Amino acid sequence: MINYNHTVFVFLLLSLGIFKLGSCSANNVTVKCIKSEREALVRFKEGVIDFPGKLSSWVGEDCCQWKGIECDNESGHVTMLNLSNPAGRHRHFDYHERYQYYTLSKSRTVCEICNTYSRPSRSLLGDVDASLSGNFNVSLSGKISPYLGNLSSLTHLNLEGNYNLSTRNLDWVSSLSSLEYLYMGGVKINHTNADWLHAINMLPSLLELSLYSCELEHLPSSLNSLNFTSLHVLDLSYNPFTTSIPRWLFNLTSLTNLDLSFSNQGGVILDSFGSLGSLEYLYLGGNHFYGSIPASIGNLSSLKELDLSYNEMNGTIPKSFGQLSTLVKLYLLENSWEGVITKAQLMNLISLEEFVLTTNNKSQPLVFNVKYDWRPPFKLKILHLESCRIGPEFPKWIQVQSELTNVILKNVEIKGTIPEEWFSMISSNLAQLDLSNNQIKGNLPHQLVFPNVTKLFLQSNLFSGPIPSNISDLMPSLQYLDLSENLLYGKIPLSISKIKQLNILVLRRNNLSGELPHQWNESQKGLRVVDISYNNICGKIPSSMGFLGNLSILVLSNNNLSGEIPSSLQNCSIVSMDFGGNHLSGNLPSWIESNIFMLRLRSNLFSGTIPRKWCNLHKLRILDLAQNNLFGGIPNCLNNLTAMVDHNIVGYKPIENYTEKASIMRKGREMEYDRTLPLVTCIDLSGNNLTGEIPFEITSLTRLDTLNLSMNHLSGNIPKNIGNLHLLETLDFSNNKLFGPIPKSMSSLTFLVHLNLSFNNLTGRIPSGNQLQTINDATMYKGNPLLCGSPLPTKCPGDETSDDPTIIGDEDKQNGNDYERIWFYASIGLGFVVGFWSVCGTILLKKSWRHRYFRFCDDIKDRVALLIALKVVHLKRKFGLEKS
Ligand SMILES: *[C@@H]1O[C@H](CO)[C@@H](O)[C@H](O)[C@H]1NC(C)=O
Ligand SMILES: *[C@@H]1O[C@H](CO)[C@@H](O)[C@H](O)[C@H]1NC(C)=O
Ligand SMILES: *[C@@H]1O[C@H](CO)[C@@H](O)[C@H](O)[C@H]1NC(C)=O
Ligand SMILES: *[C@@H]1O[C@H](CO)[C@@H](O)[C@H](O)[C@H]1NC(C)=O
Ligand SMILES: *[C@@H]1O[C@H](CO)[C@@H](O)[C@H](O)[C@H]1NC(C)=O
Ligand SMILES: *[C@@H]1O[C@H](CO)[C@@H](O)[C@H](O)[C@H]1NC(C)=O
Ligand SMILES: *[C@@H]1O[C@H](CO)[C@@H](O)[C@H](O)[C@H]1NC(C)=O
Ligand SMILES: *[C@@H]1O[C@H](CO)[C@@H](O)[C@H](O)[C@H]1NC(C)=O
Ligand SMILES: *[C@@H]1O[C@H](CO)[C@@H](O)[C@H](O)[C@H]1NC(C)=O
Ligand SMILES: *[C@@H]1O[C@H](CO)[C@@H](O)[C@H](O)[C@H]1NC(C)=O
Repeated sequence: MINYNHTVFVFLLLSLGIFKLGSCSANNVTVKCIKSEREALVRFKEGVIDFPGKLSSWVGEDCCQWKGIECDNESGHVTMLNLSNPAGRHRHFDYHERYQYYTLSKSRTVCEICNTYSRPSRSLLGDVDASLSGNFNVSLSGKISPYLGNLSSLTHLNLEGNYNLSTRNLDWVSSLSSLEYLYMGGVKINHTNADWLHAINMLPSLLELSLYSCELEHLPSSLNSLNFTSLHVLDLSYNPFTTSIPRWLFNLTSLTNLDLSFSNQGGVILDSFGSLGSLEYLYLGGNHFYGSIPASIGNLSSLKELDLSYNEMNGTIPKSFGQLSTLVKLYLLENSWEGVITKAQLMNLISLEEFVLTTNNKSQPLVFNVKYDWRPPFKLKILHLESCRIGPEFPKWIQVQSELTNVILKNVEIKGTIPEEWFSMISSNLAQLDLSNNQIKGNLPHQLVFPNVTKLFLQSNLFSGPIPSNISDLMPSLQYLDLSENLLYGKIPLSISKIKQLNILVLRRNNLSGELPHQWNESQKGLRVVDISYNNICGKIPSSMGFLGNLSILVLSNNNLSGEIPSSLQNCSIVSMDFGGNHLSGNLPSWIESNIFMLRLRSNLFSGTIPRKWCNLHKLRILDLAQNNLFGGIPNCLNNLTAMVDHNIVGYKPIENYTEKASIMRKGREMEYDRTLPLVTCIDLSGNNLTGEIPFEITSLTRLDTLNLSMNHLSGNIPKNIGNLHLLETLDFSNNKLFGPIPKSMSSLTFLVHLNLSFNNLTGRIPSGNQLQTINDATMYKGNPLLCGSPLPTKCPGDETSDDPTIIGDEDKQNGNDYERIWFYASIGLGFVVGFWSVCGTILLKKSWRHRYFRFCDDIKDRVALLIALKVVHLKRKFGLEKS
């Protein structure tokens, strides 16, 4: 019985199999690909490197069975070739990704103006492409065979997202006369080729054309006659065009979708766009357009999405805007909008769901001037307004928005309180709430549950009262919490250490008191940033913080913390530790790991010696141990701090989406750094009880901009090669017991703006020349009775005649002026570096190009330094010649 059953079963299986086989062969009898077309496909395959095996099915005679190919059932002609890499498709409104490209293209312009930096290499753009393409591994590479032009019945050709694919020209495309859909985004088209459009113009059936990121530079301005008038979709975004939008484009009246974002277009947006009456999607972001939005925009009666972000629009938004009743998404990020938005522009936007407008016009920000109790026709999901004025009262038209998921109302001049009813109305859908940089008063809501809020930014307001003690119940999904710069008081609730997803916690500059929460545990493994600085927190640093294995940035400065640094912190991944301005004591933590970038322990009660082990901190850029009770010598292995030597080592690895702030003493005063923090390289050991000599190894740290060893008991000579520290801006050796001469090399410190050698026992002639000449001030040499020469009144032996101003006064003057001019250039250079960072530094650096970026800044600084040095040499030579 059992055997019989088995047999029946096997028989059933076999017959099923046979049935399947039968149906399969029945299929491939009818379709057989055409030999010449198979040939063309084989040639294509031969021309590309098929690393992921995308073309592995391309074997056998019948090409119609190959993956990515479709043939016509009757004729057997190939009608579709689809080898796209979907990960490579760029996404709209994803400015997290796009912003990078934007800043790169902007920095290129800045640099070209400055003439200090040529175009970024193709590989730099390649990096950006890589971030857009998501995954290179699924991309084909190599050259497209022109034999593809033999697929004469092709209607669909899709190779987009293959960023390593290239083609010499598009001539082969011109013979694909049935083509309706052509997608080649990401494929490099030889940019010297100006004729690509003529090939396209041979395709009268074309409906969709997508050539984003093809490195096209030429957009022909004239066409004799337009063949592809049925075109619906045109995407030419991310191409570095050197020519402007041609007139013929406005004859494409069937267009529903036009994307020219990041295509290097400028000027005033023409009114002609109004002639493209079928447009539903219009993307013009990331260009250099200026002026106002043309009134003709009101003619686009089908418009659903409009993006003008990242342009230089410095005009107004016209009243006709209010006619766009189909508009769903409106993105007007980062322009210099002016004027007033009234009811007229908003009145009929009945479909609007996403409203994003930020302005960088500081002098005359855009003002919303609608009656307080006006009720709009739209129900928004995303509302992002930044740096315009919607206050002082929190307007009704926002109060009635009940379906919001993302709210960013940053720096919009709201004063006073926000009704709790609004919070309760939106609390269940809300994912992100940013009300930062206003003057909002009142307590934080203590009753409302925001189940899905991941980001809460309320910094820089006037919120007062305590942080809700049950915050982990109210906002269980919180990832990023920033309540800094408010008037919050009371204790930090213990429940904060129960928010499992918490990533970044910033409570800086409030009046919080009590002890730090001490119930941290391993379940909070996502916590990477904790900044509770500038409060009144007392007690010890809880050793349970050691459970936070991914904690990278820990800022507890300017509180009343005492006790020792718990050694459990060595289980964290600290890259930045700022405990300055507390009452911490004990020895310095010698267990600090080699990944640390900033170690700031100034103004505490630490004692003992500086651990020799710290010489292994090869990423350290900021070492601030000032104002403690440290004794012993300065380790003579500091030359091992390679991040202060080697320009290629990136000390600071920014935490994504977070900009650290720290106060650093530079140029004789304390300043708060944020975006420029990664540029600071400093050693401050001042105000301790250090003895011994200044180790000469310190002169290897050629990256240092600040070296402060003042107020110690150091003796011996100033290292002879101190001039090696050619980027030094601040040098303070005052109040020590140094003796011997001031090394001549000091005069090669061309960036020096703050020098103090007072109260030592230095001897001999003060070196002169270069930068030393411009910061000439007797006080910096004070308290060294055996020094002589300018700027001190004490003359050096034998100086009486040559120092007579009446003899060489003119020359001296000229000399000084020249040096001043050089310093002026140098400051411009530095200003550029800093300015560049305040523009570009805001963005969230991506791993792929971060390194290059940092090196770029270094390069600029170096170049300026080099430029100055060369000029100095040149001048020296000039003067040498004149004297001889
Ligand atoms: C049908 O295709 C199968 C597998 O590709 C092949 O083995 C078979 O020989 C084909 N039949 C004919 C009639 O071509
Ligand atoms: C691009 O075109 C120019 C001129 O036709 C040619 O000299 C050059 O070799 C081409 N470059 C590539 C990569 O095909
Ligand atoms: C328009 O397309 C047809 C068919 O491909 C072609 O013969 C003709 O030359 C094209 N016209 C122009 C101006 O390119
Ligand atoms: C565009 O249309 C205008 C008329 O609306 C016509 O004069 C012009 O020749 C057309 N241009 C092209 C390139 O077809
Ligand atoms: C807008 O910017 C352009 C180009 O920079 C300038 O010519 C124009 O005067 C500006 N307009 C206004 C209103 O500021
Ligand atoms: C919270 O988010 C999840 C998915 O992210 C969603 O399914 C759920 O409906 C949201 N809850 C509320 C109350 O909106
Ligand atoms: C300095 O670095 C070298 C090699 O990188 C290493 O061998 C040496 O031990 C280091 N010295 C100290 C004191 O850390
Ligand atoms: C940073 O912000 C972007 C955009 O808001 C988001 O997609 C990304 O997940 C964030 N990264 C982290 C680590 O929070
Ligand atoms: C500095 O060290 C000396 C001995 O080396 C000691 O007498 C003195 O008290 C110390 N000063 C401070 C401020 O610690
Ligand atoms: C300063 O140095 C001179 C010799 O260089 C020495 O005679 C003198 O005693 C020193 N003064 C002090 C206060 O150390």
